[in-house]
Formats: sequence, structure tokens, C-alpha cells
Amino acid sequence: MKVNVNSAREMQNIGAAIADTAQVHDLLLLNGDLGAGKTTLTQGIGSALGIKRPVKSPTFTIVREYPEARLPLFHMDFYRLENDDLSSIDLNGYLTEPGLVVIEWPEVVQAQLPQEFLQITIKRVDDSWDSTKRIIEFEPQGQRNKAWAEQILTLIEKKK
Ligand SMILES: Nc1ncnc2c1ncn2[C@@H]1O[C@H](COP(=O)(O)OP(=O)(O)OP(=O)(O)O)[C@@H](O)[C@H]1O
Ligand SMILES: [Mg+2]
Repeated sequence: MKVNVNSAREMQNIGAAIADTAQVHDLLLLNGDLGAGKTTLTQGIGSALGIKRPVKSPTFTIVREYPEARLPLFHMDFYRLENDDLSSIDLNGYLTEPGLVVIEWPEVVQAQLPQEFLQITIKRVDDSWDSTKRIIEFEPQGQRNKAWAEQILTLIEKKK
């Protein structure tokens, strides 16, 4: 399942469609190169969940928590995680919290994650660094996530 995205604004709107269909204990994995738009997508999720403060990249803090959201948001980024640092964050604790977990750069923790999640990969379409075109690929694992991806795509189509 692939979607074309033409601007950062459109990426945030897709985030809103994800937020509007998300349920407690959903897990979203975001893949894509540096600057692909993973945090931008999460900002769209955050504002649609009613978070008023800015949703910032958790690159240096690993986790940012937004308990005030309609569905509490736990935004993680494992780009900078060193091998033994994982012990410093209670990943399982976050996964069992009643909320939505969004993970950028999930590879390092993949073995610690449940087998069911919605994986999204964001790719640049053009070679030029300033192009705002992206393609998003949805790869849902498990029944709930297949249904979730369908709902997201339906919402995106409706809003076009
Ligand atoms: N279609 C688009 N979707 C998302 N971001 C876009 C798009 N077009 C341009 N941008 C810009 O590209 C940048 C994406 O940065 P962002 O921090 O979201 O990337 P990231 O994937 O989280 O990177 P990192 O791996 O460093 O965390 C932002 O400055 C955003 O405004
Ligand atoms: Mg980011």
C-alpha cells in the first residue's frame, strides 16, 4: 500500500489520519532516511491528538511523552542509541501503557518489539535534496494493523 505525498503539510495531514484512526496500544514504526519526514508525520499525529505544545524530535532524549493527548503519545527515536543504552529505557513499560507508541529508527529495538505493528517507510522520490515529494509505504503486521492501514488510506482518500 503506497501513498504519494507532495509536501510537508500533506505529510502532517496523513499524520492526522493516523491519529484519527489510532487505538490504545497501537504501535507505529517509522522507517526512512535522515530528513525523510518521520518527525514531521509524528507532528501531524500529535496535533490531531490535541497536543498543544510542539512535538519535537526525540533524537537526544530517546523518548518524549505526551500524556495530555486524547490518546497518550509516546514518541521515540533510537537513532542515537548505543548498544547497551537500551537498559536505560523501559520499552516494555511504554508498550503496555494505554497509548500510542511511535518509533523512529526502530531497527535497534526490533527484537524487543511485539510482532504486530504498522510499519511505514518514507522515501524520497527525487534526487534533489530540497524536493518535497515523498512516497509512503504502509506494511501492516497482523489483523488490527491491516484494518488500521485500510482506515488510514480511506480517510486520506476522503480528504483529497
Ligand atoms: N513531503 C514532506 N514530508 C515530510 N517532510 C517534508 C516534506 N517535504 C519537505 N519536508 C521537510 O523535510 C524535513 C523532514 O524532517 P524530519 O525531521 O521530519 O525528518 P526525519 O525523518 O524525522 O529525520 P531524522 O531521521 O533526522 O529524525 C522537514 O524540514 C520538512 O519540513
Ligand atoms: Mg526525526
